[in-house]
Amino acid sequence: MKVDVLLGLQWGDEGKGKIVDVVTPDYDIIARFQGGPNAGHTLIFEGQKQVLHTIPSGIFRKDAINVIGNGVVIDPITLKAEIEALNAKGVDVALNLKISKKAHLILPTHKVLDKASEEAKGKKKIGSTLKGIGPTYMDKTGRNGLRMGDTESPNFKEKYNNLADKHKGILGDYDYQSILDETESKWFEALEFLSNIELIDSEQYINDAIVSGKKVLAEGAQGTMLDIDFGTYPFVTSSNTVTAGTCTGLGVAPNRIGEVIGIFKAYCTRVGSGPFPTELDDAVGEEIRKIGHEYGATTGRDRRCGWIDLPALKYACMINGATQLSMMKADVLDTFGTIQVCTHYEINGERVDYLPYDITDLDIKPVYTEVEGWSEDLTGLRDLKDAPEAFLNYITYLEGQLNVPISIVSVGPDREQTIIRN
Ligand code: GDP
Ligand code: IMO
Ligand code: MG
Repeated sequence: MKVDVLLGLQWGDEGKGKIVDVVTPDYDIIARFQGGPNAGHTLIFEGQKQVLHTIPSGIFRKDAINVIGNGVVIDPITLKAEIEALNAKGVDVALNLKISKKAHLILPTHKVLDKASEEAKGKKKIGSTLKGIGPTYMDKTGRNGLRMGDTESPNFKEKYNNLADKHKGILGDYDYQSILDETESKWFEALEFLSNIELIDSEQYINDAIVSGKKVLAEGAQGTMLDIDFGTYPFVTSSNTVTAGTCTGLGVAPNRIGEVIGIFKAYCTRVGSGPFPTELDDAVGEEIRKIGHEYGATTGRDRRCGWIDLPALKYACMINGATQLSMMKADVLDTFGTIQVCTHYEINGERVDYLPYDITDLDIKPVYTEVEGWSEDLTGLRDLKDAPEAFLNYITYLEGQLNVPISIVSVGPDREQTIIRN
């Protein structure tokens, strides 16, 4: 069997959690391959809402095993809170969750470093979620990090102190002590709590599963435009959010990758700083934010809103090798008489349809094509044969532009508000 991948094509928050939950019955294993508690994946069903940060979005389906892969970074405090919330809802997490021994740990001092780094950047701050993501991945690539497997070592405390002391040295006279007084004991308590979750060699586990005919879905976090290599650097996260991240974040060989399902919103959002060519800093942007409830699932911040950006989406399809697309939140545009689609950028008077290297510094003007809106409530739609013609035209137009079929259409946040096309 091959591993299918489901990931975001924009700046995150495309609706990955919802679709992973919807398609999980087709899979035996759901595995997260990168990111950490900076992610917030929302699931809504049977009138209940759940936001997941580190745990894969297959956790509500009893028959699926959920794996936190080696490419993920873990904050024990957040993970414990997530597990407790799920247990309270009757989900026996310990039964269906496994964690890679190679997943790196976010220390309390990593979070302080994240905060100090953002404060030092001032106006140029990235808008990090302040979950310690950047400093933890820095320690991983700098070969200083602590991994989940280290928690089983008799000298774990010593290893912890060595790394925390190193961080304190970097922080100098930054006021870290009050934060550590509050979080350090909670961190160790949380690790103790997590000791009933099985630690595994996840690369071996997943490859054995593939060989024995099990179906695996890799769940991405963030989105392609936040990828450390291919996103709008430096306004990105610190991991590879693209399909290639599945290979390194789970130990899956490239020739084992099957379908790649790229998720995008029928418009576009971004949270945090950085370039966003189609951003609408006006009443229309505000209307999209209000109708789409575009507020961060992790930080509660307002998400910046704008029209769909085809040059960025084409780039994302190319980098990921998307074989299918899932279009989300079309219902948010129900009341718009016309919809704008950015087909090109104008840079220094020239039209381009690709992402320029210096997207952060260039003056980029989006060039739009106007598309007729459908002016109908889509939230009750369950079959595209009942869809308004203007909506079908929008789907066909995007498929033609992106050259990838849209196989899933989402018309509301609930599990049921999903149309799977043949
Ligand atoms: P993720 O990080 O990609 O999993 O996405 P988030 O959960 O951060 O953000 C997506 C938001 O949109 C959540 O509040 C979802 O409940 C909601 N959502 C998902 N799909 C749809 C949809 O088709 N229509 C509407 N109106 N909301 C949706
Ligand atoms: P999901 O998985 C949207 C953004 C932050 C910031 C930048 C770097 O829910 O789609 P970091 O904390 O990683 O150092 O922040 O990336 N960001 C996200 N934006 N969705 C996410 O995850 C994000 N995770 C990080 O806002 O701009
Ligand atoms: Mg999110």
